[in-house]
Amino acid sequence: MSRVAEVFESLEYGPAPESTDLAEAWLDRYQRSFGHFIGGIWSDEGEGDRFDVANPATAQVIASLRQGSAGDVAKAVDAAREAQSGWWALGPHGRARYLYAIARHIQKRARLLAVLESMDNGKPIRESRDLDVPLVARHFYHHAGWAQLMEDAFPGHEPVGVVGQIIPWNFPLLMLAWKIAPALAMGNTLVLKPAEFTSLTALLFAEICGDVGLPAGVVNIVTGDGDTGAALVGHPGVDKIAFTGSTDVGRIIREATAGSGKRLSLELGGKSPFIVFGDSDLDSVVEGVVDAIWFNQGEVCCAGSRILVQEGVAETLELKLRARMETLRLGDPLDKSVDMGVIVSPAQLERIEGLVAQGRTEGAEVWQPSWSTPREGSFYPPTLCTNVAPSGTLAQVEIFGPVVVLMTFRTPSEAVAMANDTRYGLAASIWTENINLALDVAPKVKAGTIWVNCTNVFDAASGFGGYRESGYGREGGEEGLWEYIRPVWQADASEEVEPEPNRPRSRSRASGDASPAAAAAEISTAVPPIDRTAKLYIGGKQARPDGAHSLPVYGADGALLGEVGRGNRKDVRDAVEAARSAQSSWATRTAHNRAQILYYLAENLLVRADEFTRRLGAVSGRPDDAVAEMDASVARLFTYAAWADKWEGRVHHTPFRNVTFAMKEPIGVMGVVCPAAHPLLGFVSCVAPLIAVGNTVVAIPSEVGPLLATDLYQVFETSDLPPGVINVVTGARPEMVPTLAAHDDVDGLWFFGPREASAEVERASAGNMKRTWVSYGQARRWLDSTQGQGEEFLRQATQVKNIWVPYGE
Ligand code: NAI
Ligand code: MG
Repeated sequence: MSRVAEVFESLEYGPAPESTDLAEAWLDRYQRSFGHFIGGIWSDEGEGDRFDVANPATAQVIASLRQGSAGDVAKAVDAAREAQSGWWALGPHGRARYLYAIARHIQKRARLLAVLESMDNGKPIRESRDLDVPLVARHFYHHAGWAQLMEDAFPGHEPVGVVGQIIPWNFPLLMLAWKIAPALAMGNTLVLKPAEFTSLTALLFAEICGDVGLPAGVVNIVTGDGDTGAALVGHPGVDKIAFTGSTDVGRIIREATAGSGKRLSLELGGKSPFIVFGDSDLDSVVEGVVDAIWFNQGEVCCAGSRILVQEGVAETLELKLRARMETLRLGDPLDKSVDMGVIVSPAQLERIEGLVAQGRTEGAEVWQPSWSTPREGSFYPPTLCTNVAPSGTLAQVEIFGPVVVLMTFRTPSEAVAMANDTRYGLAASIWTENINLALDVAPKVKAGTIWVNCTNVFDAASGFGGYRESGYGREGGEEGLWEYIRPVWQADASEEVEPEPNRPRSRSRASGDASPAAAAAEISTAVPPIDRTAKLYIGGKQARPDGAHSLPVYGADGALLGEVGRGNRKDVRDAVEAARSAQSSWATRTAHNRAQILYYLAENLLVRADEFTRRLGAVSGRPDDAVAEMDASVARLFTYAAWADKWEGRVHHTPFRNVTFAMKEPIGVMGVVCPAAHPLLGFVSCVAPLIAVGNTVVAIPSEVGPLLATDLYQVFETSDLPPGVINVVTGARPEMVPTLAAHDDVDGLWFFGPREASAEVERASAGNMKRTWVSYGQARRWLDSTQGQGEEFLRQATQVKNIWVPYGE
């Protein structure tokens, strides 16, 4: 009796351990030794290396896995390739049935999956049971639907083919679902490599694939570490790599795949802000912080690891947080009443300890609750750091542990500046009772997901993914499916011959008359004036090139048409600066206003149609084509003017008390290296979609016909185009493209040119992980009248931001 009274007094929880019997029995069934799952069978032949995996809470070895070799990877890729056409031929309904069956089986084996996940990763059973596994099932159900709807939803598209997928250890099964469900729904087959610390639920998933009778080779699982991952990335039979993990490895993968033609989606690190305004409900905020940084021990790529709090409430919030931290329970992950489990590995624990120690030396005050942390196993307590400078290690580096920094701001604009003071851009949460303030700040924070008065909520219907060095591509929702399909018109990958700039007529042989008078007579046939060297166009002004050099431009007949400035690195940098300073005001204009300017550009171009047509004819030597190109250019400006206010987002029906707005936002400052062929249409086809949706542009026009771009300056100037929205730097590509591709303040780059140069662009983009779209020498086909405009260009010009807003009951 007195004991019961005591319990009521202290309200202490007793231990409530989840039984591991099911999981132990499952491991025993495999004698705790696993091979790879390739072509529908367990493959464990040969002497290959093995490694042990441990339960991080007990440090006990629970299984032995194969270290996948390049040969194992090759076998898996072959199996996936062999299965792909059959899987595609099965059709939408056939694939939908399999995805549905997988979802059902996951639900049936939910308990085993949850226990195994917690044993392998160290996350609390409460989270694996109530969050990870239900979300995994939801992901397969949702994507069974997309499989069924593929033909209606994505006409003119086909699967990418064989996909290589590499996932991290923080949400082993959930990341598997985010990768596998959309890939299968869209008709791809795949090879997945789980993280070396946490492969067990992927192997159980392989068993489920067998149980539902999934055709052999559609899903292949190869275990191993980063070397196995690198072999998968490097295998020539893989059409796409989908990766989730650290930004460092993402960068390695970008460089390794450059020039291979492999599609790439990267979900990388984060340092997400958690913004608390003075009017917010602080008790909800405290629970929000718990979910933001102590959920999954803080091993969450979108963890709210930077609390930015408005000055007036900072002290109160800090006190409330400390009080709440005292009541958090950390311990055996299989105890149903713990809030926090164990760090995934001793190496990760060491990394966390090292970063916190570094923060201390930089002056941070580090606060941890008074209760003691278990000594056995890789436990780390919840940790709150104050007195951290915005540039300090703890404020900048992704810690991937239960460590949060708290910093203060005064005004909303200061909050936005601090939120964006990071190289990452994965997520943010905004806390305020003022909806106007929340929706004012949400578009200004550069991140792929914004949670208003909530945090770390996920759903299969909503896309998830990064801005900036948090990577590109989305997972979930309609926006995630584009990563796994491509337009049918891109299937032909053969390289075209790139037109070269025209050469001067060799006078001695052509006419035998090299007199100045003869030369002048030739020139006069090309109507535009030749006594002028066209300048660059930067920040709304015609600018002389930094190097004061120019390049002659010849017609198809070898006659000199004029000269253009020869831009260099400095000119490119100036143009980027101009585009940057124009960026936010252009992006925040109304779409209607941007449309009006595009219509006006078309109108003013049409006024000068004769001049442009003659110029095009002189460059190509084909006057008839020139008329067609001129007409198509005007029509294309109309097309993007039309799209400007119709390239809309969606509202996702996520199953919470909110709506999720999938907003299409511009990428920012875009570089464009225009196709050599079609000097006018090529320029228009690239620049118009980019500016229609709010990007500002640094364009390097065709080297064959740069005068078609420089002739446009006057069109720009008469069309109300604000300075800096379009900047043009003429000259030789090799002198400028590397600067543009490596520039840290360029957010994305389109490159229309040969395969080899495309590869260099992709490689150089890894510096700031800018998004690239390169043509691999297929510029002419991409600009064809039917496909050279429209949604694919607009998709490449935008990124989706999901904003979760409370709504309804
Ligand atoms: P990691 O990025 O090295 O590992 C992620 C996956 O990539 C694993 O499956 C690994 O085997 C594989 N991998 C490693 N090197 C590879 C290569 N060269 N080519 C292909 N695949 C490769 O992450 P790690 O080392 O486990 O953790 C280090 C830090 O990275 C963490 O402390 C954390 O800060 C960050 N991280 C971030 C994640 C995120 O989702 N944002 C996930 C995991 C780690
Ligand atoms: Mg690593």
